Amino acid sequence: MASKALLMLLAALSLSLALSGSADAQGLSVGYYSKTCPQAEAIVFEEMTKIIEVAPSLAGPLLRMHFHDCFVRGCDGSVLLNSTTGNVAEKDARPNLSLRGYGVIDRVKAKLEKACPGVVSCADILALVARDAVVLSKGPFWPVPTGRRDGVVSIANETRQLPPPTANITTLISMFAAQGLSVKDLVVLSGGHTIGISHCAAFNARLYNFTGKATPTDVDPSLDKYYLAKLRTICKPNDFVTFVEMDPGSFRTFDTDYYKLVAKRRGLFHSDAELLQHPLTKAYVLSHAGASEPEFFKDFGDSMINMGNIGVLTGSVGVIRRQCSVVN
Ligand SMILES: *[C@@H]1O[C@H](CO)[C@@H](O)[C@H](O)[C@H]1NC(C)=O
Ligand SMILES: *[C@@H]1O[C@H](CO)[C@@H](O)[C@H](O)[C@H]1NC(C)=O
Ligand SMILES: *[C@@H]1O[C@H](CO)[C@@H](O)[C@H](O)[C@H]1NC(C)=O
Ligand SMILES: *[C@@H]1O[C@H](CO)[C@@H](O)[C@H](O)[C@H]1NC(C)=O
Ligand SMILES: *[C@@H]1O[C@H](CO)[C@@H](O)[C@H](O)[C@H]1NC(C)=O
Repeated sequence: MASKALLMLLAALSLSLALSGSADAQGLSVGYYSKTCPQAEAIVFEEMTKIIEVAPSLAGPLLRMHFHDCFVRGCDGSVLLNSTTGNVAEKDARPNLSLRGYGVIDRVKAKLEKACPGVVSCADILALVARDAVVLSKGPFWPVPTGRRDGVVSIANETRQLPPPTANITTLISMFAAQGLSVKDLVVLSGGHTIGISHCAAFNARLYNFTGKATPTDVDPSLDKYYLAKLRTICKPNDFVTFVEMDPGSFRTFDTDYYKLVAKRRGLFHSDAELLQHPLTKAYVLSHAGASEPEFFKDFGDSMINMGNIGVLTGSVGVIRRQCSVVN
């Protein structure tokens, strides 16, 4: 698997060399580092291969980290900044519960600083790491446009821009639209829930306290009742710490099983269930609940590129941080 992925990476790198210089509208380009740090993407992939081999469960959180970065202040690496005296950073806001793997980013960054000091941004590392996490989980490869620069500001309360797992379809669509992402991007990127695990905290209310009445029947009616019973055996009332697989049985393999689950009303989050409440998202879920992996894989790469364009800093805006957790 790893060697096949490496071949794909090499093929894409030579493609990206041929394409480099062709910047898109956002100022990012595939192969941006081909002259300043030609080995950059290979270094990221090599480190990620070693990391995912020993800690496959980090693939989901590392994919999420890029999403959390992009939805707050754009893809500028702000999710990685530590709090400072007088400022609580995004990292220490509530949605951080689903994030892990900051050490991975630091490790990759240290390798890149050794090879090419001060060249590769933390924001680009997040985008490349997310792609490689998917590739190493047997998911699709896509060429990642790079050239993002890093921000210097991170504010905890701005994580309100992250769609919560309790959101309904109207809220989900409008929060994606606020970032320039379409309804299709929403349903395609939700497919990322095919890998990873979640704390009971993210869906406990669906099992015990859906409308705030906390009666035995106060459950989310959109959840399959057999799955509800099963989840109740794993997550007790007020259990916010136990982990559950988002795509039971194949949570380490990037595939279309997520759509099968959602179609069977077995998505883990209320926001997953809500995808059946809009004609476009419902149609996508149902048509991928069979097995149309090639189309989903292509769509996922396209939507990740769209997401990776959100609010990027390029040119002379922003900086290249030397350590991802602090400003230079
Ligand atoms: C940022 O915070 C983490 C966790 O508190 C800590 O381990 C790390 O050393 C900090 N980074 C820097 C550069 O101080
Ligand atoms: C998440 O934020 C809380 C404060 O809300 C903080 O105590 C905790 O250390 C943070 N967790 C991580 C993993 O950064
Ligand atoms: C969010 O944080 C910023 C900066 O810390 C502050 O100025 C602003 O009032 C806060 N907004 C809310 C709604 O808490
Ligand atoms: C969706 O959620 C928002 C925010 O919680 C709420 O204001 C709105 O009424 C809900 N829409 C529907 C159709 O339930
Ligand atoms: C149920 O939810 C409501 C509103 O979200 C909250 O105020 C209440 O404390 C919860 N009850 C229990 C038993 O968790």
